[in-house]
Amino acid sequence: MNGPSILVLGSVNLDIVASAPSLPRPGETVIGAKLQRHPGGKGANQALALARLGARVRLWARTGQDAFADEALALLSAEGVDLSGVVRLQGETTGVALIGVDPGGENQILVASGANARMTPADLPALITEALLCQLETPLEVVEAAVARARGFIALNLAPFSPLPARCLARADLVVVNELEAGALGTRADDIRGALAITFGARGARLYRQGRMTAEARPPGVQVVDATGAGDVFTAALMLALLEGQQDGEALDFACAAAALSTTRPGAQPASPRRGEVDALIAGDRP
Ligand code: RIB
Repeated sequence: MNGPSILVLGSVNLDIVASAPSLPRPGETVIGAKLQRHPGGKGANQALALARLGARVRLWARTGQDAFADEALALLSAEGVDLSGVVRLQGETTGVALIGVDPGGENQILVASGANARMTPADLPALITEALLCQLETPLEVVEAAVARARGFIALNLAPFSPLPARCLARADLVVVNELEAGALGTRADDIRGALAITFGARGARLYRQGRMTAEARPPGVQVVDATGAGDVFTAALMLALLEGQQDGEALDFACAAAALSTTRPGAQPASPRRGEVDALIAGDRP
């Protein structure tokens, strides 16, 4: 693999997925679901997506020493992601996400963070020389410390949303949020000096620089089966495309196509597309 080198700092979960006739409202019980288990976690999903799209990836994460860890790391290992920064903590459980998916592919996610919440700034490398990608399923102080130690391109996916200090946002070359997270970000978006990408699900995405929209893309029409992890694939694909030097419009098209493809198959990591599939979709071949 000759792509850019990227360190992904983030979460590893085992996703326990119930595909149900509908998603439960508070207090409601829905029966008739089909159960599956997949490797997941926003950090692990983004690491896998980057590897499948052609980057050289190192994952920095924490799991338990339980059997869930083996299952959660299996696809990353198969794709050649460097797992030397993944420590299995004694007496801690691997992160678990309980995911409900409805027939339209919409999801609800509850995360029991387990070992992901145990990472500390002291666990990080002294200097991060690769490009850095973080999400917010690990403690915020670890993300802040990683950003301070990074010397290359920095990408932040503010999911699930938490307010990061202005100095962190100011150092990012790319910030990715969905429309809900964009609402929570509010005027803090003014602290972002790099690119800000906002995703709108099936309606596509927009890229802004210094408050000005530089690109807008609509995803190719696909049959949605499961949207879990689509934001992770989008983030990974956009970061990679920008690192490769693609222009904003081209990079956003690439990210939207990769994310759309990921929704056509069940699960987060099993659905993550390979480079050739994304290129084919952009060229006009429907999956
Ligand atoms: O973004 C999707 C991911 O969020 C799932 O894989 C789940 O583990 C949660 O972290």
